[in-house]
Amino acid sequence: MVHWTDEERQAISSTWAEINVEEVGHQALARVLVVYPWTQRYFSTFGNVSNATAIAGNPKVRAHGKRVLDALGDAITHLDNVKATYAKLSQLHSEKLHVDPENFRLLGETLIISLAAQFGAVFTPDIQAAWQKLLAVVTAALSKQYY
Ligand code: HEM
Repeated sequence: MVHWTDEERQAISSTWAEINVEEVGHQALARVLVVYPWTQRYFSTFGNVSNATAIAGNPKVRAHGKRVLDALGDAITHLDNVKATYAKLSQLHSEKLHVDPENFRLLGETLIISLAAQFGAVFTPDIQAAWQKLLAVVTAALSKQYY
């Protein structure tokens, strides 16, 4: 089982409390689609996601970014049980959506960058470390149902 220190729990929950999930979710997903353009193919039902301007103005990308961050919120409220929390979601991404699990790591990275952009110096190395750990746990849990 993953061990979380009080400091890590505090770092994650204090950042989470300040986040606008719609905005940060949109930024993180938009960055994935621009920086790693092969991810665009998973979102063929979202209309035009072929360039940064189209992605920025695409309401489906925005809505989905919020959905992803809401799911991240589920992990944060179940920090001691992320694998079970994500069992169904992992199965969905594997068996139905066929998302290469390497992409979970990439979304984690763009989320970290979006948080750094929003919080600046307040997003200290210690806080970043706690978030990197969270996203590693999330990525492992989402990848669990792949075989
Ligand atoms: C759908 C969460 C990463 C591709 C979803 C849904 C959630 C979710 C909650 C909706 C599930 C439902 O319909 O019941 C997450 C989380 C991620 C993550 C928490 C990582 C932190 C990714 C990545 C990709 C991806 C990296 C692809 C690059 C998709 C697609 C759908 C989906 C294509 C279906 C979208 C639609 O047609 O509405 N995801 N996801 N996900 N996800 Fe993810």
